[in-house]
Amino acid sequence: MRLTDCYNFHDFRRMAKQRLPGPIFDYIDGAADDEVTYRRNTAAFENCDLVPDVLKGVAEVDMSVTVMGQKLAMPVYCSPTALQRLFHHQGERAVAAAAAKYGTMFGVSSLGTISLEEARQISDGPQVYQFYFHKDRGLNHEMMARAKTAGVQAMMLTVDSITGGNRERDKRTGFAIPFKLNLAGMMQFAIKPSWAIGWMTHEAFRLPQLENHVKMDGGALSISRYFTEMLDPSMSWNDVAEMVQAWGGQFCLKGIMSVEDAKRAVEIGCTGIVLSNHGGRQLDGSRSAFDQLAEIVDAVGDRIDVMMDGGVQRGTHVLKALSLGAKAVGLGRYYLFPLAAAGQPGVERALETMRTEIERDMKLMGCTSVDQLTRRNLRFRS
Ligand SMILES: Cc1cc2nc3c(=O)[nH]c(=O)nc-3n(C[C@H](O)[C@H](O)[C@H](O)COP(=O)(O)O)c2cc1C
Repeated sequence: MRLTDCYNFHDFRRMAKQRLPGPIFDYIDGAADDEVTYRRNTAAFENCDLVPDVLKGVAEVDMSVTVMGQKLAMPVYCSPTALQRLFHHQGERAVAAAAAKYGTMFGVSSLGTISLEEARQISDGPQVYQFYFHKDRGLNHEMMARAKTAGVQAMMLTVDSITGGNRERDKRTGFAIPFKLNLAGMMQFAIKPSWAIGWMTHEAFRLPQLENHVKMDGGALSISRYFTEMLDPSMSWNDVAEMVQAWGGQFCLKGIMSVEDAKRAVEIGCTGIVLSNHGGRQLDGSRSAFDQLAEIVDAVGDRIDVMMDGGVQRGTHVLKALSLGAKAVGLGRYYLFPLAAAGQPGVERALETMRTEIERDMKLMGCTSVDQLTRRNLRFRS
């Protein structure tokens, strides 16, 4: 299968599956428990239909949006994800460069495999730095100071990962960092030579956001230990309020789902929230962000930038979320499978495909700018 054979999410996913060792594919593709929320995230978009207007004069379409003080040329962004150089040796470098080319935002994860400083050098365009809350308060402040020095405009604190989700596919394959593969898992690596060559011929795997803070085990760092030993499950609204104050700029919480929490985010001075269930990877059975979007926008949409992610595979999904009042929509696996399949050209083809779909769909909807997408253009099925 070649990149030019990929026209949509499913094609990229198939190509990634061909190229990746099984345990890595399953780490990206998998989710928590029975993966009900994962499936639901995409299915949720089918509960409603778009109602187009016609004859509106749609020769020129402007799909740009402004979120958290940053202008995006398109209303989707690459949500922060961990370990990208494991999926393709170009990793975050490919995503940062592709996002810059398409004028959109990308997130650097604190579990990223290049440094946030390097990401900033690749792209001085819109960027967020995603981090978790550590027991060591000094470390939290140090991370913010480092981000500030690097010129990061917006911080994104992920609040839905207070403990790790139950990812049974990873248990079966033995996926862990460092690798603890079982025999079947090792065989999977042996039969994927193109991935293995890329892995072995490029610089060693690192987690530059964390390596000064986390003790190494023989050079490798255990992610499960990071989550269990270093993150603070007692994190509270007061703690976060203090961080928001200390940052003094654009700050958003990723993983807000209830109206009450959205209101509290406003009260403590956040400038954005991302409705998200972490791609179904944390609490299985939780509601999809799209299903929850309207009530949150009604409650806080005039005071804070409301974004959402989860299950987005099509331009029409994005249009539906924007019609309900989302300011922008995050992509996860939508760009990760193309990254795994083909590196930077893969991510670029995915963003180009999404951009083309959004433009075509806006024209078919009779819209020339994002603010013309409203609930008037959407009907829910009973
Ligand atoms: C492989 C993988 C790694 C991820 N790593 C992170 C992370 O480090 N921090 C974070 O806040 N979210 C992380 N996420 C969640 C994404 O940012 C996003 O919320 C989710 O993927 C959206 O769902 P989608 O994949 O269906 O688009 C990760 C998701 C995946 C699939």
